[in-house]
Amino acid sequence: MARKSLVAANWKMHKTISEAVKFVEELQKLVESLDDREVLIVPPFTALHAVGNALNRGDFFLGAQNCFWEEKGAYTGEISPVMLKDVGCSYVLVGHSERRNIFGETDEMISKKVKALLRAGLSPVLCVGEKLEEREAGQTFQVVERQLKEGLLDIDVQSLAKIVIAYEPVWAIGTGKTASPAQAQEVHTFIRSTIEKISGDKSVAEGLRILYGGSVKPDNVDELMKEPDIDGLLVGGASLEVSSFKRIIEYR
Ligand code: PGA
Repeated sequence: MARKSLVAANWKMHKTISEAVKFVEELQKLVESLDDREVLIVPPFTALHAVGNALNRGDFFLGAQNCFWEEKGAYTGEISPVMLKDVGCSYVLVGHSERRNIFGETDEMISKKVKALLRAGLSPVLCVGEKLEEREAGQTFQVVERQLKEGLLDIDVQSLAKIVIAYEPVWAIGTGKTASPAQAQEVHTFIRSTIEKISGDKSVAEGLRILYGGSVKPDNVDELMKEPDIDGLLVGGASLEVSSFKRIIEYR
C-alpha cells in the first residue's frame, strides 16, 4: 500500500509571528505542488493562528507541539485539543522527548493526551525513542515497545489508523548524529510490527505513517527516505531555514 509521506517542521521555541508568516509564505511559493507527500508546519502556540491563515495549499497542514488532556477548565497555562482544532490544527505532537525529559511527561500522561486528541478529531503524532544509554544497553526495542503500548493503551482500531508515529532516538536530536538509514529502518519495522500486534489488524499497521526524526539535514534526507518503512520526517533545526527545509521536503 502506498503511504503518503509527511514532512514536518517542528520549530520548538523558535520564531515570532512575523518570522513564522514570512517563512510559510516564502516556502509555499518555492515548493512545487506535491502529490506523494504532505508538509506539516508545527510552530509555537503564539504563531498558530497567523500561520494557519497564511497556509494556502492543500498539501500543507498546521500542527501544534503539545496539548493538555482536558477540554476546558481551571488549568492555567494549558491549551486543549478542542482549542487546537479551532485554530486550524490537523496534527499535534505528543510525547516529544523534550516534553518527556525536561517537563517530566510520563507514558500515562501521554496516553491521556492521545485519547483527548482523538476525541477532538485531531491526529496525534506520537513520538517515541530511546536514550543513548538505553541503546548501548541493548534496550532500544524494549523502550520503544513500552512507549507504544502505554501511549496507545485502549485505543480502538479505527482510531489507531489516524495516528502517526515519530521515531526519534534521543541521542540523535539536535546532536548532529543521525541514526543510519539501516538503524532507523530496523526500528521502524519493529514499530510497524508492534502496531500490528496492538491492533490485531495488518492493514492498520501497513497504512501507518512512521516518521524519522533526529538531525535530519539536506545531506542525509535522501538516504533516509529510501528506506521502505520511513514514511516521513520530523525535522527540528534544519526546518528553521526556508532553503534547507525546502530541500528536505524535496527529498529524492
Ligand atoms: P533536530 O530535532 O532535527 O534538531 O534533531 C528533531 C526533533 O526534535 O523533532
